[in-house]
Amino acid sequence: MAQITLKNIVKEYGDGFKAVNDVSLDIADGEFMIFVGPSGCGKSTTLRMVVGLEDITSGDLEIDGKRVNELAPKDRNLAMVFQNYALYPHLTVRENIAFPLRLNHSNVPADEVDRRVSEAASLLELTEHLDRKPANLSGGQRQRVAMGRAIVREADAFLFDEPLSNLDAKLRGQMRTEIARLQRRLGITTIYVTHDQTEAMTLGDRVAVLKKGVLQQCASPRELYEEPVNLFVAGFIGSPPMNFLPAKVKGDQLELPMTTVPIPEAAKAALAGKEVVIVGLRPEHVKDADVTDPPAGTMVFDAVVDVTEWLGNEQYAYLPFDPDPTVQHTLEELDRDLDGEGMRTQYVVNLDPRSQVVEGESARLFFDPATMMVFDPETGKNLTRDEQHAAQLASRSEEARRKALQRAKSTGN
Ligand SMILES: Nc1ncnc2c1ncn2[C@@H]1O[C@H](COP(=O)(O)OP(=O)(O)OP(=O)(O)O)[C@@H](O)[C@H]1O
Ligand SMILES: [Mg+2]
Repeated sequence: MAQITLKNIVKEYGDGFKAVNDVSLDIADGEFMIFVGPSGCGKSTTLRMVVGLEDITSGDLEIDGKRVNELAPKDRNLAMVFQNYALYPHLTVRENIAFPLRLNHSNVPADEVDRRVSEAASLLELTEHLDRKPANLSGGQRQRVAMGRAIVREADAFLFDEPLSNLDAKLRGQMRTEIARLQRRLGITTIYVTHDQTEAMTLGDRVAVLKKGVLQQCASPRELYEEPVNLFVAGFIGSPPMNFLPAKVKGDQLELPMTTVPIPEAAKAALAGKEVVIVGLRPEHVKDADVTDPPAGTMVFDAVVDVTEWLGNEQYAYLPFDPDPTVQHTLEELDRDLDGEGMRTQYVVNLDPRSQVVEGESARLFFDPATMMVFDPETGKNLTRDEQHAAQLASRSEEARRKALQRAKSTGN
């Protein structure tokens, strides 16, 4: 059991590069925390500083309120599960799992080693494989052996660095569910690094989004999705990603490429004095007016469909627009930050699969202006973030986490 606190953590590598820049985070006992962000944003570096494999340049790392910056990895009692599993090929599954307990400094009696290994094996459904060698196991089974090794140590926390990235999509899905179940059952503090959206959104109690070594936002998946603090988080979380559209402020109206809408009440004060802003619209918030009658207060517009993709349970339509040169720079920069594939001069909408929109023809679409987010083009700040709603989401997710932990403890399995 452990509470892990990062206070203004900085990592400057020998060449002067700041890979992690002033990151502060409070990870609660039993919490499942995800680190997510584009390649090179400092996820692994942060994790390695927590486990003790990398020196901390400045700031404080605390475990249960005690500063551990100078403590050797073995004295931190954290278990790291690596991407390549680090299993010993000449040892059996049983010996691999028991390995950390056989080390000199552990002093665990032999019958206790047997008990812990059996328990971990049964938890991980590896009992029938205990006498096999890692080479003869599937990727998922090897992954479980690596986790078994972390479990027998009775470590205070689990740290994972992209543990599933070597596995194929199907197995990744299965392992994801297993890790989530196991974490809840054990109620053990966990930090999990990934750049996979689905893993980030489904596994974590909270997700810390990093960009170039700087923490952007740490919140529940729902809060990141519904109340992102800035353009980067809004664009990073969600698939297909949020559309970003240039918008001109004209009195109390916003002129978008496809239509003109009233400025949302929440953004009025923040928009005073601004000429151009960036509007964010999630693909699923635009609907086909020929399938659903547009409710009062929604904005109906016509637009020519470039490409459609019908997937059975949903349908995407791509609609081109003319980029506004005044915000093009910001959008291009954002696209680079997000590892994008180039300027988006089209927006994508996620329509009902029954929609009959046709490529090359005009479609009648609509959206509720209340679903728009408005961003400052210079700072990227979300001007429509509802702090009160965000706080509600945070307390609801914290309550759900506590309940899940309690449930896991009371059922004792
Ligand atoms: N030993 C090192 N010396 C100098 N720079 C380093 C070193 N290790 C990492 N970096 C730099 O620090 C930054 C963060 O690296 P890190 O490995 O933490 O990224 P990451 O978020 O885990 O990325 P990925 O998703 O690709 O694994 C990168 O820009 C990287 O080039
Ligand atoms: Mg990494």
